[in-house]
Amino acid sequence: MTHLFQPLTLRGLTLPNRIAVSPMCQYQAQEGEGTDWHLVHLGGLAQGGAGLVMTEATAILPEGRISPEDLGLWNLAQAEGLAPIVHFIKSQGAVPGIQLAHAGRKASAYAPWRGSGSVPVAAGGWIPVAPSALPFDTGWTAPMALDEAGILAVIEAFMDAARKAMAAGFQVIEVHAAHGYLLHQFLSPLSNHRKDAYGGSFENRTRLVREVVGALRNILPEEMPLFVRLSATDWVEGGWDIDQSVALAGEFKTLGVDLVDCSSGGLSPHQKIALGPGYQVPFAARIRAEAGLPTGAVGLITEPTQAEQILAEGSADLVLLGRELLRNPRWPLRAAQVLGAEVPWPASYARAAKGSVPIR
Ligand SMILES: Cc1cc2nc3c(=O)[nH]c(=O)nc-3n(C[C@H](O)[C@H](O)[C@H](O)COP(=O)(O)O)c2cc1C
Repeated sequence: MTHLFQPLTLRGLTLPNRIAVSPMCQYQAQEGEGTDWHLVHLGGLAQGGAGLVMTEATAILPEGRISPEDLGLWNLAQAEGLAPIVHFIKSQGAVPGIQLAHAGRKASAYAPWRGSGSVPVAAGGWIPVAPSALPFDTGWTAPMALDEAGILAVIEAFMDAARKAMAAGFQVIEVHAAHGYLLHQFLSPLSNHRKDAYGGSFENRTRLVREVVGALRNILPEEMPLFVRLSATDWVEGGWDIDQSVALAGEFKTLGVDLVDCSSGGLSPHQKIALGPGYQVPFAARIRAEAGLPTGAVGLITEPTQAEQILAEGSADLVLLGRELLRNPRWPLRAAQVLGAEVPWPASYARAAKGSVPIR
């Protein structure tokens, strides 16, 4: 038996295998609503055999969108639009997950092929919010610092979006606390210069994400898993780091988080990333070993044997693939062949599962 094709049970939910679609912005939404693109894109990944199909970062508030073309979940029409996509993902035997996000000071950005930096207000952008009024970089709009009422509104919006996600049929919720977006901005001393209860000490900087996670755990059914994506390090001296990530993951365990999805970076333009195959796997391994919580490994995982080894050596419980699944959406079916695992193919494709049978 392979590790990659073992089911993974978290609370009352079983993923059919250990391969997840890493959340990936598509910049194809209209007013936060999904389009045909999302059905074909996410549906195709479900056909391809991933056990967990996660949406892109889906904004809990309009001003929390990374770009004007992001998915959102602050109104009913958005939830109703996602429901058929969720239905199709389930019909393929995959589990639908949603990443809930607020981009903070990195909101109102251009889709990568349209430009870089912030979309100006005059061109349909908006003034973003953040823990402190510090822009991400030159070319980015300076954000407004959130006051306490604004922080409470963010927590409420995470809860509201989670309720809508459940109504649409999603079975996993992931809180996006990575890549330099709002919750990560609160975690890092580089972007959080607050003097109140949400800034300064480790306890204060982690307060918002702990409050969001606690609020969500309260409204999620007992059997429904909750994931958090963390940037395990800012890759900048004096920033958020792996030791703090391990400590925070320990708190997550107490709060009822079921899996930490271990990414890194995105907070500072001065980051110096040590890039290479599986470069973030050691973060997943440390958090798993020291916080005692299931983890997901992500980042330059491209080969079936590499993914299998990450699980076999106990570095993670789940592997998330991003760009490799854009290159080859049926990577999971191919990986099963390479590793010699028997997996169900979509019935309509079954005659392609074995190449040398004569076609009649
Ligand atoms: C087109 C694209 C969009 C992405 N959007 C998101 C996102 O919405 N949320 C997120 O957490 N990460 C996002 N990421 C990061 C991926 O989820 C993943 O962590 C990263 O690409 C590294 O994995 P890979 O080497 O398998 O691609 C995005 C990556 C790509 C390539």
